[in-house]
Amino acid sequence: MRQKNPETFDEKLAQLTELRQQAIHSASEAAVEKQHAKGKMTARERIEKLLDPGSFQELDTFVRHRTSDFEMQKNRPWGDAVVTGYGTIDGRTVFVFSQDFTVFGGSLGEVMAEKMCKVMDLAAKVGAPVIGINDSGGARIQEGVVSLGAYGDVFVRNVRCSGVIPQISLIMGPCAGGAVYSPAMTDFIFMVKETSHMFITGPEVIKTVTGEEVEFEELGGAMTHNSKSGVAHFAAEDEESCLEDARFLVGFLPSNNLEMPPRVEPYDDPNRMDPELDSIVPADPQKPYDMREVVALIVDDGDFFEVHQHFARNIICGLARLDGYPVGIVGNQPAFLAGVLDIEASEKAARFVRTCDAFNIPIVTFTDVPGFLPGTAQEWNGIIRHGAKLLYAFTEATVPKLTVITRKAYGGAYDVMASKHMLADFNFAWPTAEVAVMGPEGAVNIIYRRDIAGSPTPDQRREKLMNDYKARFANPYAAAERGYIDDVIVPRETRPKLITALRTLQTKRVDQPKRKHGNIPL
Ligand code: HXC
Repeated sequence: MRQKNPETFDEKLAQLTELRQQAIHSASEAAVEKQHAKGKMTARERIEKLLDPGSFQELDTFVRHRTSDFEMQKNRPWGDAVVTGYGTIDGRTVFVFSQDFTVFGGSLGEVMAEKMCKVMDLAAKVGAPVIGINDSGGARIQEGVVSLGAYGDVFVRNVRCSGVIPQISLIMGPCAGGAVYSPAMTDFIFMVKETSHMFITGPEVIKTVTGEEVEFEELGGAMTHNSKSGVAHFAAEDEESCLEDARFLVGFLPSNNLEMPPRVEPYDDPNRMDPELDSIVPADPQKPYDMREVVALIVDDGDFFEVHQHFARNIICGLARLDGYPVGIVGNQPAFLAGVLDIEASEKAARFVRTCDAFNIPIVTFTDVPGFLPGTAQEWNGIIRHGAKLLYAFTEATVPKLTVITRKAYGGAYDVMASKHMLADFNFAWPTAEVAVMGPEGAVNIIYRRDIAGSPTPDQRREKLMNDYKARFANPYAAAERGYIDDVIVPRETRPKLITALRTLQTKRVDQPKRKHGNIPL
């Protein structure tokens, strides 16, 4: 039976209050309890934790689905299965959508997509990041092809916003089928251990088609996508820390591609020199050390926010600050696979470099690389085209680019790792640097093969030739002599040197050739 139309202002106010309450509590208590029992928050609880307290401004509270399906007509909750709007993180505007699993399993139909598209369009219009919280059963089955088309509308926004505003995805429940491609096109993906899953086809379908048996977590859980597939950039222990990390990430990013990333007033002295850096590279060139320790000793307060921490651990990528200015750090990691460049490391770093470049974040590269990883597995899986991605990304990046060679910079990998030749702006080397076509052993075995074979004492001869080679080539001075290295610096001077260079580059200008877009080897 239709309710009586409110007539007085007080009646209208009461109606609004009631409808708003209905919208906020559209989920049944049982559905909310089920959500909490899984260690998950509700869509609104997540928004509250993500944004500055009291800053959330909801939009489209009274949107309802218009599906003609008879069963669906009986249930038309206000707001449908997503909460959308905007608010602030540390006082800066962000737009959000948060899928509500307690309503139709968070499934996406026509009006849910319309709500999401509206906030994405608004975010693009005002130039503010958009953060999507994903917790959904995928395409709404009852809406059929309409829901597939609606996903298409979201995908279009993801592509249009790419490189214009930061797009961040938080996966906090299921994200399955073609639905995964919306987060996949965003800049950063966070997942929560045990409670979030991404996959194209689930365990049942896999079992039917391939016979493989696999559980949800192993198939598409947080650690699978952080360490194996590289789909996700961050893995959180729980939702609360995931939301905190997302807030932290936003602090490094500009609101859009026309702004500079936000500087914070630094506590750390820009002229600080850490003597520990002078002895951090072991005397034995085969010995590992942790490049993250190098980074921590140089950047403001030792704070290094690692991106893709668990994937391709032979290269490190992450965000930090120098004199309060956000910088993207890329570094070979001698502590893992000797810091060699392989397919995964090249892809990881290339993606990160492009993300930094898109959002005006200067890139600081720390080089200690023995070369590209040899082997048929690498060659057959395309190290040539994947390695080219990193070369391409570093070269096309127009943000300030600073490089520090700490130890090895061998062969093609020397060129790739933001060398002067690939248009880096300032290239420094430590006295421990070895810039050469290859390491002493490999070089001597090739160019002195006959000499060594003909020697009555081949081992001693090899040793002598290697020492000669090291003196001639395994140092930074041959490169510095030609200006490929701008300066050989004492390691402890690295922080002030980088900060001065960064300040100098603030007005950097780069002319770009006229073209539709480059054709990075994908
Ligand atoms: C409509 C859905 C739904 C969907 C779940 N629900 N998925 N309603 N469309 N896609 C509803 C359920 O009917 C249920 O309603 C409520 O949401 C909660 O679901 P449960 O199954 O009870 O929850 P749970 O046990 O936690 O399992 C969650 C789940 C499962 C793993 C996500 O629901 C599931 O497998 N759903 C289907 C997933 C799927 O295959 N989606 C299509 C993917 S393909 P009631 O009323 O009982 O509470 C896709 C294509 C995208 O999305 C194309 C892009 C181009």
